[in-house]
Formats: sequence, C-alpha cells, structure tokens
Amino acid sequence: MIKLPGLIDPHVHLRDPGATHKEDWDTGTSAALAGGVTMVLAMPNTKPPIFNAETLDLALDAAKQKARCDYAQFLGAGPDNTDWGRHKALPLRAAGLKMYLDQTFGELCLDSMTLWKQHFQHWPKELPLVAHSESRSMAAVILMAAIYDRPVHIAHISLKEEILLIKAAKERGIKVTCEVCPHHLFLTKDDIPSIVGAGLVPAHVGRGEVRPRLATKEDVEALWANLDVIDCFATDHAPHTLAEKDSDNPPPGFPGLETALPLLLTAVSEGRLTINDVLSRMVTNPRRIFNLPEQPEAWVEVDENATYEIRSAEMHSRCGWTPFESWKVKGRVTRVLLHGCEAFKDGKILVEPGFGRNVRA
Ligand code: DOR
Ligand code: ZN
Repeated sequence: MIKLPGLIDPHVHLRDPGATHKEDWDTGTSAALAGGVTMVLAMPNTKPPIFNAETLDLALDAAKQKARCDYAQFLGAGPDNTDWGRHKALPLRAAGLKMYLDQTFGELCLDSMTLWKQHFQHWPKELPLVAHSESRSMAAVILMAAIYDRPVHIAHISLKEEILLIKAAKERGIKVTCEVCPHHLFLTKDDIPSIVGAGLVPAHVGRGEVRPRLATKEDVEALWANLDVIDCFATDHAPHTLAEKDSDNPPPGFPGLETALPLLLTAVSEGRLTINDVLSRMVTNPRRIFNLPEQPEAWVEVDENATYEIRSAEMHSRCGWTPFESWKVKGRVTRVLLHGCEAFKDGKILVEPGFGRNVRA
C-alpha cells in the first residue's frame, strides 16, 4: 500500500450548468475522488458558457450544492468580456481564464487575433491564463506570451511539433507551461478501431473523436521522450453519453478522471515513469502554476500491486463509457481522505454533495 497526497486535475468538463445528463458537479466530483483527485478546475464551455459574474455564480452555486471534492471554476474568454481591468474582483473568483483558439465542443471559440491580444493584455498577469491552442495557434500564443511578458499554460498538447516548440520556448525563458492528457500518452490514432469496436462499426466511429485528435506513434513517443518539458498531467475529462458519441454528429471528448491514475501507476510499474514524476505533475506543479492552496488533509491510498481490468460499469461518471474499457492496469485507488474525512473507500463515495470547497472563495 502506498500513500499519496490528493491529486489536482486542472482540466475537467463537468457540464454543469446545462448538460447535466452527461455529468454534473456531483457525478463529476465523485469520479474525481474515485480516481484519487481531490481538487478539480472546471472548464467554462457549459450551457450557458461561464464568462461573467452572473454565469460564474450559476456554476458556483451548483458546485456549492453538489461538489464532493474541492474545486474552482474557469471563466471563458469571449468577444465581449475583454476589459478585465474594469472587473477586478471577478478574475480573482475564478480558477483562471480559458481561451479557446481552435474549434472544439461548445461556443467559446475566438477566431480574431485582435481578441486574443486584448485578453492577453487585460487578464491580470498574476492570474492563470490557459489556452486551447493546437499547432500553429499554439505558436501564436507563445509569441503573445513573449510579447506581453506574461505566463501562459497550454492545454492538452499532443504533437511532437508542439512539445519541441514548448521546449525551445522554455529554453529562451518564455513563461510557458503545458499539460498532457493520459489519452495522448497511452493511445495513438491506430487505437481508434479498438475504441470504436471491432471492424470500425460505422455507427461507433464517434467514440474515437477527441480534440486534440489522437496522434501518431511518433508524436506519442516524442511526448514520452520529453517528459521533463511536461508540467502537468490533466485528464481533460470530457464526458458525453454513448448515444451522443454514436450519433451522426458526435461531440469530441473522452472521460478520464477514473482512469488517469491507474494508467500512470501502470506506467510506473513498467518503469516508464517514477511516482515522483506523477506527483510533480499532479500535485506540486499544478499547485504552483494555478496558485492553489495546499490540501493538508487530503490523501490517496493505493494498492500498487492490484492488477485488474478497467470497467466503465464500475465508474461514477454519468457518461457510462471509457476509451480504456478492458485495459489491464496495475494500481488501484483503495481509499481517499479529504479534509480529514474518509471520502472514498473500496469503490464507494462516502461524502455528501456539498462536501467540496471552492478553493477561490
Ligand atoms: O475533446 C474535447 N472535448 N476537447 C475539448 O477541447 C473540449 C472537450 C469537451 O468539452 O467535450
Ligand atoms: Zn478541455
């Protein structure tokens, strides 16, 4: 048995408000605890999107009622909320600002570089700014970070060209940090047939959709070869129901909160990572980058020798599926403590909705 500090996931989609048939603050934070995650930062591409005081209150009111682990909520960068300097109290109440520079699920995509620039200039320098920016838009964002001399965190990098560019930017002293998702470390585009089901059942191809897309073996190898450049492991937990994934217009996204730690512990057991590699990327680095408080009474007990198969039927997420179904893993979360209380034990959530605290309150 090993005992780890509570993990932080700085990138989850909990769908509340607006799409609680996929997930809500209750089921999403239950999934977090089951995965050893005691603090989540929730993304703003909900319905409505979270972009001002009124919508932030909507999300935080729901979280206050329902969250079972600690949390903070991101604001989204939109076309009409660039004058952050005039709303000083609002940024402080958020996990940070999320800028969507490439198309993905939801309405929060900023096409105009003028808007990127305005958010970069006006969002307070000392508060976290996260960009969904793939490939060339990532290069543009790194340039803006250099020009405006402010930190930027790049979400879910997946490509060799991206990790190499971030490495070069860091070497030049540009204030850029990044995260990688377990699905981009453990899956390539060649795994899509096995996610979708034998023979690429046409009705199921949507199950392989995720943004950024699954990449090539060469990309995945470049991420592993440059682990020292990766600041955080974040799940980008993006639950959609199987009916939605199998529809004509499948939304992109994989759930990930309940599979991240077992996958990473399996890599530790194979000697591909150390436990300290995991803890720096899931505790100390996210805490520093997002300026999060310590959780002194949050612990995760893991049976590092437990070998088993991943089963969506045993999960707490409302979405009801995982791209890692039937994967053999080694390392099971057996017990989680939060605020000194037993929050999860042997597959069961033991704390009530509302137990979690807003870490920006
Ligand atoms: O696959 C994705 N799903 N990528 C994103 O950027 C958004 C997410 C979602 O909200 O479903
Ligand atoms: Zn995301």
